[in-house]
Amino acid sequence: MAHLFSPLKIKNIELKNRIAVSPMCEYSSEDGFANDWHFIHLGSRAVGGAGLIITEACAVSAEGRITFADLGIYRDEHIEKLKHITDFIQAHGAVAGVQLAHAGRKASHVEPWNGGKQIPSNQPNGWKAVAPSAVPFKDDEEAPLELDKAGIEKVKADFKAATKRAIAAGFQVIELHGAHGYLLHQFLSPISNKRTDEYGGTFDNRIRLLLEVVEAVKEVWPKENLLFIRLSTTEWTEGGWTADDSVALAKILKDKGVDLIDCSSGGNVVNAKIPLKPGYQVEFAEKIRKESGILTGAVGLITTAYQADEIIQEGEADLIFLAREMLRDPHFPLRAAHELGHEVKWPVQYERAKW
Ligand SMILES: Cc1cc2nc3c(=O)[nH]c(=O)nc-3n(C[C@H](O)[C@H](O)[C@H](O)COP(=O)(O)O)c2cc1C
Repeated sequence: MAHLFSPLKIKNIELKNRIAVSPMCEYSSEDGFANDWHFIHLGSRAVGGAGLIITEACAVSAEGRITFADLGIYRDEHIEKLKHITDFIQAHGAVAGVQLAHAGRKASHVEPWNGGKQIPSNQPNGWKAVAPSAVPFKDDEEAPLELDKAGIEKVKADFKAATKRAIAAGFQVIELHGAHGYLLHQFLSPISNKRTDEYGGTFDNRIRLLLEVVEAVKEVWPKENLLFIRLSTTEWTEGGWTADDSVALAKILKDKGVDLIDCSSGGNVVNAKIPLKPGYQVEFAEKIRKESGILTGAVGLITTAYQADEIIQEGEADLIFLAREMLRDPHFPLRAAHELGHEVKWPVQYERAKW
């Protein structure tokens, strides 16, 4: 029976355990460049024993950034620093992944620790956000510009160009950010997508952009590499995207060669009532895994070795994404292995601290 420290082999890529560092925005870049902060933040979690390390949301275009300080992969010059990070991650036995993202209507904000408010497009560090429809996320925010056909083509081209840079930067996993109310999710949801063309209205129309982005990525992404998608598997809102929609989409994505769905939720509706409790999103990872047959990742308020191990052992998910617990303890995987009684390799430099 699989457990938290069983390797996970997908195609020919093997993750040494089932622990993935979940994407976490650091808002610490200038013009999209990774720097020492990102190297230490991601590198230390490779030292700490995670099997897979995924960067924060990495913007595919400057206008697709949440803030002016987001990490980006929209210029060839971004590649060098990212490559330095992936080399280090791989040298420490982990697989490096990048989350490709476009913020859509949630672009042009200040960092959360400075209040997280939108910067109007006519202010310094602000720009006009784009979205499926001219519907702001919050009532007091400037409405985004509805993407026209040329704008949609640019989004696809940006994801494709970012994929080429991800290859050059040495990533083996791409996770498309289709969750948390960002652009691809905005298209999926009837709450944010009010279009009347072939990209809006029916389920088939609302999923069209995501499928076209998948196609664009696959045109250049090597077959041996992995493609994950993070979805907000429910919006917790009457009339919004549902878990059954996620299952239907997952079946289609599986047929298109997507390797895993990272099952998050929410983020597209202000004040949605989310029943927060330990492992509150695991049921969606389990449902999608069982009903579509695709591999899934569970995320959200998973904080202990035993909790994570049980999710794998019960067959509720294939991979555990940890965010805040990995901030509290970058060495969580080494500690978890000890707690669960598994022998794992420590970095030689740290071996004398082994429990
Ligand atoms: C500091 C921080 C930054 C985050 N940034 C991202 C991000 O860039 N992309 C994303 O998909 N989720 C992001 N998230 C959400 C996490 O990946 C994760 O889904 C969420 O925190 C729930 O997991 P946890 O309970 O283990 O923290 C972020 C979370 C935190 C705490």
